[in-house]
Amino acid sequence: GKKIGILTAGGDCPGLNAAIRGVGKTAILEYGMEVYGFSSGYLGLINKEYRQLSERDLSGILTLGGTILGTSREKPYKNVDYDDYINSKPAQIVETYREIGLDALVCIGGNGTMKTAHKLQMEGLNVVALPKTIDNDVWGTDLTFGFDSAVQIAAEAIDRIHSTANSHKRIMVVEVMGHHAGWLTLYSGIAGGADMILIPEIPYKEKVIKKYLEHRYNEGKPYSIIIVAEGISIPRKSSGASATIRPAHYIAKLVTKLTGLEARETILGYIQRGGSPSPMDRILATRLGSYAADLIAREEFGTMAALEGDRIVARPLEEVAGKLKLVTEDLDLIRHARAIDTCFGDAY
Ligand code: F6P
Repeated sequence: GKKIGILTAGGDCPGLNAAIRGVGKTAILEYGMEVYGFSSGYLGLINKEYRQLSERDLSGILTLGGTILGTSREKPYKNVDYDDYINSKPAQIVETYREIGLDALVCIGGNGTMKTAHKLQMEGLNVVALPKTIDNDVWGTDLTFGFDSAVQIAAEAIDRIHSTANSHKRIMVVEVMGHHAGWLTLYSGIAGGADMILIPEIPYKEKVIKKYLEHRYNEGKPYSIIIVAEGISIPRKSSGASATIRPAHYIAKLVTKLTGLEARETILGYIQRGGSPSPMDRILATRLGSYAADLIAREEFGTMAALEGDRIVARPLEEVAGKLKLVTEDLDLIRHARAIDTCFGDAY
């Protein structure tokens, strides 16, 4: 049987263990492969930190948050000294792979992980990748696992924030993760019945924010919920690196300045990435993981397992690496949200 390695890289998210289990159990039980788990993303390959995983090691982890392997944001191709390539991190990775005698490596991660996975494929390793992230911004797949769980957590948080918004007649600003993409903000905002949703892909205008909130006030709704993505652009403070302010803080202050209404901010933070995966994420991670083992058995390397409609397919890593999947304004979802009076800050 073949020998395969698995690693999880980048930020953690719900469903990583479900994916590890899907890959590992299929590899061991269906194909008689040997499975090795690397610690802390690409660091485990660089530092030769790994252990063989038995079927028993993969039992009972489906519902666990985080990753049993650990993860890191290590980027092995950053600052590589090509004059001393033998001692570089990529060379160490290739050495570890050859030393164990691996036939393939499964890299589970987001955009950064896909870039590194593609480069390792170019070095001659056999790589299969799986897309995970709460940001849902990986090119070439309809969905990443982790996203559905994060939407659920953020939507629940917004539900609770409605209480204070209504009782105190305040403007409540909630900041949601997502890096440069607005997916998590858009979905959780719509699920939570947000009045205004601000995402990086749709630039907001101050006069629109003012007009919309005043309109609601005049309609007898002196409270509003505004969901802002962490990636929206706000004016930079000119002095000092420590002076960076959060988008939620900026928008809350702006609202009060524009309308005189009382505003408060909440930053959801890492709560959005923790805990047990939703049933949909468990299913997606299991399907993608099991499919990755199929790809290795068929020797279809240099690929990323992806969801397309309701099917799992393989996409060439070179098509995926270096691209971002962002929200586009022509999404049906945005049109329907506008139709029920949700404001995106661009027009009202
Ligand atoms: O990619 C997931 C994510 O949670 C993003 O939404 C966020 O911008 C980033 O990770 C935070 O990174 P870190 O875990 O390094 O703080």
